[in-house]
Amino acid sequence: MKAVLIREFGPPAILRTEEVPRPEVSETGVLVRVRYSSVNPVDWKIRNGSLRLFYGAKFPMRLGFDIAGEVEETGPSVTRFGKGDRVFGMMGYRVRGAYAEYVCADESLLAVIPGNIGFDEAAAIPLAGLTAYQALQDKGEMKEHNSVLVNGASGGVGSFAVQIAKAAGCHVTAVCGTGNAEPVAALGADRVIDYRKEDFAKMTAPYDIIFDAVGVRTFFQVGRCLTKEGRYVTTLPNKPADIAGFVLRPFLSLFGYEKRIRFVNVRPGGEDLRRLALLVEENKLSPLIDRTYELKEIAAAHAYSETGRAKGKILIQVG
Ligand SMILES: NC(=O)c1ccc[n+]([C@@H]2O[C@H](COP(=O)([O-])OP(=O)(O)OC[C@H]3O[C@@H](n4cnc5c(N)ncnc54)[C@H](OP(=O)(O)O)[C@@H]3O)[C@@H](O)[C@H]2O)c1
Repeated sequence: MKAVLIREFGPPAILRTEEVPRPEVSETGVLVRVRYSSVNPVDWKIRNGSLRLFYGAKFPMRLGFDIAGEVEETGPSVTRFGKGDRVFGMMGYRVRGAYAEYVCADESLLAVIPGNIGFDEAAAIPLAGLTAYQALQDKGEMKEHNSVLVNGASGGVGSFAVQIAKAAGCHVTAVCGTGNAEPVAALGADRVIDYRKEDFAKMTAPYDIIFDAVGVRTFFQVGRCLTKEGRYVTTLPNKPADIAGFVLRPFLSLFGYEKRIRFVNVRPGGEDLRRLALLVEENKLSPLIDRTYELKEIAAAHAYSETGRAKGKILIQVG
């Protein structure tokens, strides 16, 4: 089967499509014939070596987290899926390898694709959708009628976050760049702020949750825009100001400062995916798709993602 791999860290040009053996089906594994995958920024951060501390440097290295396809075969202990089922999921951190014609994924990672979408839209959902859901639900403790601000609302994660917060009955303010206001408003945002013209951190509206989907602000910059017990949730916990905010929080709460900073680190898993699938079935969640590339164009897909300008998700057509 064809699979994308790297034999060193480097620019998009080092991505190679090679013939590799089909994966063996494990006891609780599901062999999926992949139809579509999608690009997430973590894929090119692994490729260029900037995450080698977490993902190691063992080559050849397979890439890609998101899959959508058909079940080809199941392991003896698999109970939830059968041959021919349409499934989607986020591969585990250790296995990865979604840019391939076949993957073997543990059944706990998969969910059935809702009947009202195809493999393409399904492949857009797993990593980015799970990140948005877990950021708002688990870290942000989102409740109905909360006021939620999503920074980076036109990106893969942010475009899901706007819709998930809206579906939960929240008032949603979406922050995006010039030119993205229209697609972002179409996702259901109540208010759209163009970050190139206005700085939400200098405005007064207090938010219960500020979800920094692109991780470009800090807790100290935006803290004044949070309600008394508001939560700032970020996808990129690597800024010294945020780490200081996290470490100092117990001390600050002694003085009645109850605003919180939380980091999201997406967990793969079928349970949360089934919640997202339900929203899709109810027509409350629909992936925002920017471009589709073929597997052989994977280098161009990575290069485009690295521009940081994608409007929603970048798909890879595999089968
Ligand atoms: N911790 C985790 O578990 C986790 C999970 C998923 C993703 N992440 C990280 O989260 C980040 C976002 O992921 P993604 O998939 O959403 O990326 P993405 O789709 O590549 O994000 C692109 C979008 O970001 C917007 N953007 C860029 N700079 C901005 C700014 N200063 N303010 C507001 N919007 C801005 C762009 O809009 P304009 O063109 O209008 O600027 C574009 O639409 C990545 O760094 C990724 O690695 C972390």
